Amino acid sequence: MRLTILGGGGFRVPLVYGALLADHAAGRVTEVTLHDVDTNRLKAVTGVLAELATDVPDAPAVHATTDLDTALRGADFVFSAIRVGGLEGRAADERVALAEGVLGQETVGAGGIAYGLRTVPVAVGIARRVKELAPDAWVINFTNPAGLVTEAMSRHLGDRVIGICDSPVGLARRVARVLGADPADAWPDYAGLNHLGWLRGLYVNGRDELPRLLADEALLGSFEEGRLFGADWLRSLGAIPNEYLHYYYFDRETVRAYREAERTRGAFLAEQQTAFYAEPSRAAWDRTRAEREATYMALSREASGAGERDAADLEESGGYEKVALALMRAIARDERTTLVLDVRNRGALSPLDDAAVVELPCLVDANGAHPVAAAPLPDDATGLVLSVKAVEREVLKAAGTGSRAAAVKAFALHPLVDSVTVARRLLDAYTAVHPGLAYLRM
Ligand code: G6P
Ligand code: MN
Repeated sequence: MRLTILGGGGFRVPLVYGALLADHAAGRVTEVTLHDVDTNRLKAVTGVLAELATDVPDAPAVHATTDLDTALRGADFVFSAIRVGGLEGRAADERVALAEGVLGQETVGAGGIAYGLRTVPVAVGIARRVKELAPDAWVINFTNPAGLVTEAMSRHLGDRVIGICDSPVGLARRVARVLGADPADAWPDYAGLNHLGWLRGLYVNGRDELPRLLADEALLGSFEEGRLFGADWLRSLGAIPNEYLHYYYFDRETVRAYREAERTRGAFLAEQQTAFYAEPSRAAWDRTRAEREATYMALSREASGAGERDAADLEESGGYEKVALALMRAIARDERTTLVLDVRNRGALSPLDDAAVVELPCLVDANGAHPVAAAPLPDDATGLVLSVKAVEREVLKAAGTGSRAAAVKAFALHPLVDSVTVARRLLDAYTAVHPGLAYLRM
C-alpha cells in the first residue's frame, strides 16, 4: 500500500511515520512518498525517518519528491498536511489580527480566515490533481483550517476527502480518564465544526457518564478543559467544549494575554523550527517536539489560571497520527471503527445542509466515513456553528472568485470580529503582508 504525504517536510511527519513503523499487519503501508516544495525540509525529515527506521526490518520505504504529479500517481492514500506561507505566514496571521485588537490565532477568528484565504486555492489545486491522477485514492486532510479546507476539497473529491483533528479525541480521552473509564470503550456524543464542537455526553456501556462529571466540582477541576473553562461555566453549558472554544467564551481575556505576549505562537514555532531544520536529527526532533507540546495553548492556560499541562497529556502525544492511521486501516482493511472526523454532513446534524463539512462521530469502513446522526445542538451552539459556517462559505466564495467583498464579509461576519471597519482594515493589512492573497483583486 502506498501513502503520499503532502507537506512531507513538515515537523509532524515523523509522528505519522512512527505510527506506521508500529504496524506490522498485512495490508500495512509499505511505501511512503513525501512531497514538499522545500528540498531542505524534505532532506531533514527524510533523515529523521531513517533514524526512526533503524532496526525496524519491515520499515516502509521512503521516497521524496518536489513534483506533485509524481507524488500522487499510484497513491492509495494521500495525507495532506501543508502549511501555505509557512510558520512565518502563521505568525503574520496572528500579528495582524492582534494589532487590530481582535483574536490572532492559527485557525480561529481573523487569523484563521486569513489562513483559509491563503490555503483554499492551494488545496483546491491539489484536489484537482488528485482527481485527475489518483481518482481512487482517499485523501486525509490535516491541513488547517481543517474543516474549511476539507469542505473546499470535497467540492471536487466528494466524500473521498476526510478531515481529521486530534482535539475531539483528546477531549474524549481526558474526560473518559477522569471518569475512570477506558477511552476505547467510551462513545463520545461530540458535535460541531472543526475546532468548534462540544462533548455533550460520554456513553460507557450505554450509560451517559458526563452528568456525573458535571456534578463533581473536584473532578471538573482535574483536567485541561475543566480548568480552562471553569466548573461553573461547564455546568451552565451542560457540555464540555472543545478547548478552541476558549477563544470564544473568553475572547477578551485571551486577546489581552496574546497582545501582551512577547511573541505569537507562530513566531515562537518559527524560531524553534528554524533551529531544528538547520541541524536536524532525531534527538533534536524529540526535544523540539517536547517543548512544543509543553507550551501548547500556554497563553490560554495562563489567561484562565489553568496552570501547566497534565503529565498524562504530555506523555501521550496528541493522537493526531493515531487518528490518521486508524482511519486509513479501517478503510484499507474494512475494519469497521468509529472516529470523530470532518465529513460532509449528509443530514446528520440539523440544521446544517448536506454539503457542510461538520465534525461528528463517523462509522468508518471500506466505503469511507459515514457520519452518525446526531441530536441537534442547543440554540447557542447552533448559532455559533451557523455563523462560523457562513464565514467559511464567504472564504470559499472569495477563494473561488477573487472577490474582496466576499473576503471582507468573511471577516466582518465572524463572531470574534466586532466591526465592518475592522474587517476592511484586516483584509488590507493581510493583503499587504501575504503575497498569497494577491489573487483577491475583484
Ligand atoms: C492541535 C490542533 C491542530 C493545530 C495544533 C496547533 O493539535 O488540533 O489543528 O494545528 O493544535 O498546535 P501548535 O503547537 O502548532 O500551536
Ligand atoms: Mn485540529
